[in-house]
Amino acid sequence: MIPQKMKRILPAITFFSISIICLLISGCDSEEQAVKSSLERKVDSILINMSLEEKIGQTCQRGTSSRVKGELSEELKDAVRKGKIGSMINVMNKDYVEELQRIAVEESPNGIPLIFGRDVIHGFKTIFPIPLGTAASWNPDIAEEGSRVAAIEASTNGIRWTFAPMIDISRDARWGRIAESAGEDPYLTSEMARAYVRGFQGEDLANPSSIAACAKHFAAYGAAEGGRDYNTAIIYEQLLRDVYLQPFHASVEEGVATFMTSFNDLNGVPASGNSFLLKQVLRDEWKFDGFVVSDWNSVTEMIPHGFCADEKDAALKASSAGLDMEMMSTSYENYLKELIEEDKLTIAQLDKMVKNILRIKFKLGLFDNPGFDRNRDDMVLSDEHKEAAKKAAVESFVLLKNEGNILPLTNDLKKVAVVGPMADAPHDQLGTWTFDGEQETTETPLPALKNHLGQSKVLFSQGLNYSRDKSKIGFNDALRTARQSEVVLFFAGEEAILSGEAHSRSNIDLPGAQEELISEISKTGKKVILVIMAGRPITIGNIIDKVDAILMAWHPGTMGGPAIVDVLFGEQSPSGRLPVTWPKEVGQIPIYYNHTNTGRPASNESFVQMDSIPIGAWQSSLGNNSHYLDIGFTPQFPFGFGLAYTTFEYNNLKLSSPEIALGDSLIVSAEITNTGSMAGTEVVQLYVRDMVGSLTRPIRELKGFRKISLQPGESKTVEFTIHTDDLRFHNQNMEFVTEPGAFKVWIAPNAHEGLEADFHVISK
Ligand code: BGC
Repeated sequence: MIPQKMKRILPAITFFSISIICLLISGCDSEEQAVKSSLERKVDSILINMSLEEKIGQTCQRGTSSRVKGELSEELKDAVRKGKIGSMINVMNKDYVEELQRIAVEESPNGIPLIFGRDVIHGFKTIFPIPLGTAASWNPDIAEEGSRVAAIEASTNGIRWTFAPMIDISRDARWGRIAESAGEDPYLTSEMARAYVRGFQGEDLANPSSIAACAKHFAAYGAAEGGRDYNTAIIYEQLLRDVYLQPFHASVEEGVATFMTSFNDLNGVPASGNSFLLKQVLRDEWKFDGFVVSDWNSVTEMIPHGFCADEKDAALKASSAGLDMEMMSTSYENYLKELIEEDKLTIAQLDKMVKNILRIKFKLGLFDNPGFDRNRDDMVLSDEHKEAAKKAAVESFVLLKNEGNILPLTNDLKKVAVVGPMADAPHDQLGTWTFDGEQETTETPLPALKNHLGQSKVLFSQGLNYSRDKSKIGFNDALRTARQSEVVLFFAGEEAILSGEAHSRSNIDLPGAQEELISEISKTGKKVILVIMAGRPITIGNIIDKVDAILMAWHPGTMGGPAIVDVLFGEQSPSGRLPVTWPKEVGQIPIYYNHTNTGRPASNESFVQMDSIPIGAWQSSLGNNSHYLDIGFTPQFPFGFGLAYTTFEYNNLKLSSPEIALGDSLIVSAEITNTGSMAGTEVVQLYVRDMVGSLTRPIRELKGFRKISLQPGESKTVEFTIHTDDLRFHNQNMEFVTEPGAFKVWIAPNAHEGLEADFHVISK
């Protein structure tokens, strides 16, 4: 009998020899191909020794809900020992991670290591801004650095797989999960997706501090009807491909290791049983070679969807569609064997699933190095990581209003009133999906302000205990505090639990009595600066005129407090821009900048406000266009919008040519000048419009952006290159083409403004 240890290294020796032989004999054409085929050989040599039970085991993920501490049960250990489990989710006790991995590697039939996964979404212990905030930085380096830090910290716990990035296009602020997204735009989201993948996975997945990323939720989850979580998505295929799938494709190009299916049904087919998505698009078209995991119970949820009769049917439909690993529910564990025995699923199909999983385990280096260095705790919440989180928070803030340039504040203020439920809410400022973030290590605005101005200058009266608080008991004290001060800093928003999964809202005003308290405070005549911490855009129509300045701080994470103080007092200038269109009213939703036009597009000239309609008016639509009578047609703030402490002017838009032939590029440039008296950072945005298409085209599409810093009076020329391939879209025959014709181009500070020019694409 071959000794256990020998048994495990035998395959490795075999691969090694085969690889050398292959290299010598066939002279594999490229280095990449050689690596690929050596990887495939490694995978095959394990597969060949695996029993049916063990193969099925690789497709099963077990775990606990993140709050359950529990003991390691004998049943679980035994299942790992028998090779019945491929992955664990949410095992946070380091001893348990070690013990389970030891059993898998030393005692299971082929010694296949487990892969431990966890939702490390915007930080592990050092929490960065929610992804929507990170997207507002319009700086992919921020996303990359944040996910690098998260990977370094999470891997000290044995976590080698995160369920991030979430790259669902989100055009509906009611949907709680908009907080986890990069917003409404496919280009910006794709840039962020690439950056997250680079950050989590590092340069080499096998590095012990790299963790496998997971592009989720595939697909169209963000298009949930009515913004209600888990709801149906109905999207025509061209729109699906051009908008919703684009970031997923970008993540494949960046080498993302895994994908997660979404909960929703897409055009009638639940994503976890959707072979169009999982086979045709992901494998055949994009050549993805990692593995696909379901969402939590999403396989068996195909039963209530009315798509599967029972668990067995769900297992069949998911596995046949190309879903490799089942999260939490156990239909694979219970039924794959039967399905194979009944010839409903072939061994070849199962082998494919297992190979996809083993490939990633090899890439992660788990076969060579299944353990983790549990003594790297000094890396967690290090000064360096906290500094990175602070920088990210600063860059994520969007200045929405600054009447009379009240901001930045000066340091010679004598008394500042600090009011509002989010001024000192360490748990809530972390935002959604922060299982491992701790309020004890979170720095809130209140102490940061005291630290900055001196204890005695900061008067604090919370007014409301939490964001949903409706009690007015604290109003009088808050008003008294406001009267005693020169300026009021009101920290408003939403508690973390009001956004995120399953936390959609139909009304997205500030909850509780916050609006009332703001209104009362504004009556004191004091200047009011509103800082909003929330997981989504908040409708602020009732209060926007009652405050002097508004800073959108999202849920800013561990270092939110000091970051906010730095920006309020001008040590840093606000440079975030909105990654989503900000609605005036919930009734405008879905509202996004890159929509197509109606035949009667809204305009200022044609807009009829409903109070101006005569009583008893005769029915007529003439002269009316596509708008709401009560709210008009513009958002509160457009996509890409954000103020700075200075002003910028755009001049000299130049095109290298008014015409480009298919296959060629065009250079577009403009000169941006800082016309104010403070240094500032501008996000220069490039938009195009295809004027006539064989399918209606969006009225603007973001095609590039650049973040530049300018001293007062300084100018910089910003140049963009547009290749005709950047203008492609899916036509009626589902071909991805650029159609010759007229285009407009803008270099712009946001989606509603900018310098505009025309160009033509001509056939060669
Ligand atoms: C969420 C996923 C998450 C998974 C594991 C699900 O409920 O939709 O985004 O990764 O749980 O926690």
